[in-house]
Amino acid sequence: MYRTHYSSQITEELNGKKVKVAGWVNEVKDLGGIKFVWVKDREGIVQVTAPKKKVSPELFKLIPKLNTEDVIAVEGTVNFTPKAKLGFEILPDRIEVLSKAKTPLPLDPTGKVKAELDTRLDNRFMDLRKPEVMAIFKIRASAFRAVREFFHSEWFIEIHTPKIIATATEGGTELFPMKYFEKDAFLAQSPQLYKQMMMASGLDRVYEIAPIFRAEEHNTTRHLNEAWSIDAEMAFIESEEEVMALLERLIKHTVKYVIEHNEKELQILDFELEEPKLPFRRISYTKALEILADLGKEIPWGEDIDTEGEKMLGNYIKENYNEDLYFLYQYPSEAKPFYIMKYDEKPEISRSFDLEYRGVEITSGGQREHRVDVLVEQIREKGLNPANFEFYLKAFRYGMPPHGGFGLGAERLIKQMLNLGNIREVILFPRDRKRLTP
Ligand code: AMO
Repeated sequence: MYRTHYSSQITEELNGKKVKVAGWVNEVKDLGGIKFVWVKDREGIVQVTAPKKKVSPELFKLIPKLNTEDVIAVEGTVNFTPKAKLGFEILPDRIEVLSKAKTPLPLDPTGKVKAELDTRLDNRFMDLRKPEVMAIFKIRASAFRAVREFFHSEWFIEIHTPKIIATATEGGTELFPMKYFEKDAFLAQSPQLYKQMMMASGLDRVYEIAPIFRAEEHNTTRHLNEAWSIDAEMAFIESEEEVMALLERLIKHTVKYVIEHNEKELQILDFELEEPKLPFRRISYTKALEILADLGKEIPWGEDIDTEGEKMLGNYIKENYNEDLYFLYQYPSEAKPFYIMKYDEKPEISRSFDLEYRGVEITSGGQREHRVDVLVEQIREKGLNPANFEFYLKAFRYGMPPHGGFGLGAERLIKQMLNLGNIREVILFPRDRKRLTP
């Protein structure tokens, strides 16, 4: 065993005890009669202090030969002393070089020399050695953990649906086609049809955390071609409001969890994250168009609110109410997919919503049409052939409760939560128009 403790696990009770630490050489200092090595691991840095009189001649000679980013394992005694920058040091008995780092390095892992995003992503393994990059992925892991914890506490069951599918759900243009033996197939854009079919199974409340694939042509700071979606679907709802209430609880829980569990990472990122207050403001699509018109941007009723409009609305909410999260709801039925329920008394409006975080959409959802005859009609209205959806429609013919759900983009959530400029910052190996490796 090369490591008994991470750097952060070395506490005062270990004073005078033997430990083993391991990691990457961060810095070497040679003051003649005393030499230092700082070793960094996932959790921080450890100072190794080697006074000539207290260590073997071989060890003393080895230290100046170490290069930054070499991988070493150190065995020694913990010494708490105010003389050490971090409050303690390790007096080494043994240093073993496990792997040498070639020079020059592909990028500066201390972050002092700034690198372009492309260079960073090409060398992601080394980019992650920067504490502020690693902090993002620790927060990401926490957020996923919070999401699972939340769903579990709300009686949701985790499901896993196929990612090789036969039919589109979110419009035909964004699909990645593939050959599936003799048939044509696609990579899943969303688990939409499958999570809805589960509402006819009695599982009742389900969630899935899985990749979605979208052949977005454009290169933006908020689109990926492979993203992670947090999907939920729940049965026996009376309106979309119940789904919105679930979603806002989920967001609050997740942000709170990150605040409570990632104090250190938020500090590294120098970011103050605020716990959102419930309920989130609800603004109807029609009202949003009125606000935009007042701000000088006219959007004809029925058209989607574009990126600029979304940003303007986000700023408006921030300036007037000091809120980062709000719902846009009751979109025109023509702007939403076939599976969304329309208001019976006002069919031009749908029971749909988007959740906006700092001016960017992070979720879409709504109540679904569960009456099979109406659903078939809606499929036709969108110019699609109900026969292609037979496997899905079948689930609506033998007892399908009213239901609704949402799809929450994990990368959008984390990017907006941390107010980062580019979605590629929050996914290890982004897939975009140009990137297929690493
Ligand atoms: P929608 O298509 O709006 O809805 O997607 C839901 C959420 O997924 C995220 N998302 C993306 N994130 C990064 N890159 C992309 N290319 C990308 N595309 C989508 C966004 C978006 O809000 N089936 C419905 C959801 C539902 O009604 O349950 C759906 O897929 O955060």
